[in-house]
Amino acid sequence: MPAIAIIGAQWGDEGKGKATDLLGSSVDYVVKFNGGNNAGHTVVITQDDGTSEKYALHLLPSGILTPGCTPVIGNGVVVDLSVLFEEIDGLEKRGIDTSALKVSASAHVIADYNRQVDKVTERFLGSRRIGTTGRGIGPTYADKMNRIGIRIQDLFDEKILRSKVEGALELKNQILTKIYNRRGFTVDAIVEDLLQYADRLAPYVCDTGLLLHEALERGETVLLEAGQATLLDVDHGTYPFVTSSSATAGGACTGSGIAPSRLTQVIGIVKAYTTRVGEGPFPTELHDENGEFLRKAGWEFGTTTGRPRRCGWYDAVIARYAARVNGVTDFVLTKLDVLTGLEQVPVCVAYDVDGVRHDEMPVNQTDFHHAAPIFEYLPGWAEDISQARTFEDLPANAQAYVKRVEELSGARMSVVGVGPARDQSVVIHPLV
Ligand code: GDP
Ligand code: IMO
Ligand code: MG
Repeated sequence: MPAIAIIGAQWGDEGKGKATDLLGSSVDYVVKFNGGNNAGHTVVITQDDGTSEKYALHLLPSGILTPGCTPVIGNGVVVDLSVLFEEIDGLEKRGIDTSALKVSASAHVIADYNRQVDKVTERFLGSRRIGTTGRGIGPTYADKMNRIGIRIQDLFDEKILRSKVEGALELKNQILTKIYNRRGFTVDAIVEDLLQYADRLAPYVCDTGLLLHEALERGETVLLEAGQATLLDVDHGTYPFVTSSSATAGGACTGSGIAPSRLTQVIGIVKAYTTRVGEGPFPTELHDENGEFLRKAGWEFGTTTGRPRRCGWYDAVIARYAARVNGVTDFVLTKLDVLTGLEQVPVCVAYDVDGVRHDEMPVNQTDFHHAAPIFEYLPGWAEDISQARTFEDLPANAQAYVKRVEELSGARMSVVGVGPARDQSVVIHPLV
């Protein structure tokens, strides 16, 4: 019966992959409902012999790593087919069975010209660039909204595919050649590139909305796993410095075909500090040795592009905002271990915008760009917490930090992460 959403509460990379993996064995389906291979989730699995295996996933839902769990790529995803099969092959080589994967017939595909448009647009934007991952995500969603997109199901009807590609290229080639002075693409090349995957893709493709509906009717558990995060959501994020999809709990429904009334739980993943990749405002960002400390201690380098992540202190204003927009029922506070060793830990409780205090997200982008954090300083701890498994195992100051950010953030802290491995978690309230 229950459908559970996992969403990012900040600007991404909060540890959604680990949280999904943590829940994996208690759920029957894990659905990726938005984004594409702009996402990067690192999952660390400890083997029975104590060694650990690290997996970097981009397009496949993290549930692919859990035996018995059906991974689903929902209609809200944009699919780069070459990346899909690269990832499948990579996992199969490491002994992971991917045969249960289901792919929505209505998901859109990222065509070559959209990767090209993404890259040249960024170059031409110059100082106004978004800092995208260059994977063609934005242009593919734009085509979807513009009703010139190519969908997975089109690959199984060559005539339709050809006519859709012709339609799209009429526009794209004009843009590429006349505005950006680049070479255009031929219909044949695009069609051939997409068709090469059709036979291999066919067994995975189905009506995933129906599949999930039937699973919920049978009383099975469906986990909806977001790519990106609330502040990168195209409606609710720091527009225009966002991704082009709906990464919030509402998107979990439109991107999967599950009715909103089915959602019983929304788990917000929030890091014990904040990071951001790419351009855009970031009130608690640190440009000093503290930022370096977080980047080094938290190994904050992008899973997808390898870019160093921008780092800053915990921002309770955006956590509260994420709790509100998504209806967060439980937070998972990740990477608390990274804060170990700090004498005191600042937490942003509100913003000062040109002399005016804001307890909520400012309405206007200009105000958010001017927001200066108002900090509360909490005492730090020096003890290694990576072996803590219960709340009582945490030193008093770490407990106080968790309690204070809980008070400020608008939902209970149910799990605290103290290391990258699945078992390095302090469960305060069991999630499922
Ligand atoms: P996602 O995009 O939200 O899935 O997050 P990423 O995988 O991009 O980034 C999170 C990183 O933090 C990964 O390298 C995880 O292995 C790691 N991680 C997750 N939870 C914890 C934690 O509690 N402590 C530490 N030290 N690392 C964690
Ligand atoms: P996960 O799922 C962090 C950022 C990019 C850029 C903006 C738009 O791992 O949390 P896009 O290529 O999506 O058009 O880029 O969004 N971005 C992410 N930042 N984590 C992600 O995913 C991201 N996916 C996109 O850096 O600023
Ligand atoms: Mg990531």
